[in-house]
Amino acid sequence: MIDVAFLGTAVRPAGTAVVVDVLRATSTITLALHSGYERVLVAGSLDDATALRTPERTLAGEVGCARAPGFDLGNSPEETLEPRGSELVLATTNGAPAIVAAAASADEVLVAALLNLGAVCAQLAGREDVLLVCAGTDGRVSIEDVYLAGRLSAALEGSRSDAAQIAEAVAASYEHAVDALEASAGAVGLRREGLESDLAFCAQESIVAVVPRLSASIEAVAVLTKAPSAAPATTASAGLA
Ligand code: MLT
Repeated sequence: MIDVAFLGTAVRPAGTAVVVDVLRATSTITLALHSGYERVLVAGSLDDATALRTPERTLAGEVGCARAPGFDLGNSPEETLEPRGSELVLATTNGAPAIVAAAASADEVLVAALLNLGAVCAQLAGREDVLLVCAGTDGRVSIEDVYLAGRLSAALEGSRSDAAQIAEAVAASYEHAVDALEASAGAVGLRREGLESDLAFCAQESIVAVVPRLSASIEAVAVLTKAPSAAPATTASAGLA
């Protein structure tokens, strides 16, 4: 069964939970691992992230889309293109807590973005109990996450819950991914902070072959590394080869 949780707080036990926060946590995690970070330590809060600080680790995080005070990076995917070390610590408002919650309840946790859509679909082939977890925005259902959940659901084999069919209907109502992102509340926050270029960046489809997967979970910290590849590398574009 393919099912969808429309909010990160609605996560439940599942064989495989796929966490989606297109704007922008799961896009950033995916690109960080693609760029060369070996691990992304996803923290449930800014305090949890700060407690993980060491000279070797890079701290990334946001408050209201802006870089968190005292952190090295914000939450724009492109900030991870030149790794500063092997470990990135990330704390965000919605996506990071959704990943930490999924880590506590699912047998396997993967991370999806439009950036790695094709690779995630290949990775999910043959999985029978899949929960697509939409992080949402500030406790509300978000268009861009439901859009991607619908795209994933439509690409998978197997029966679908009503929630999965709803997500597919939302996805089918947008001609281009960027239209769904532009229409979202997340876009309003990014424009307010002068970060609107992240919309077009996060709307790029299948430009990297990395699928982040939970490799360890310690209290409010989920450690993500690259899942072994399940498909040939996707066509690279936008200078990310
Ligand atoms: C979140 O987790 O709330 C988002 O990633 C927010 C953002 O766009 O930075």
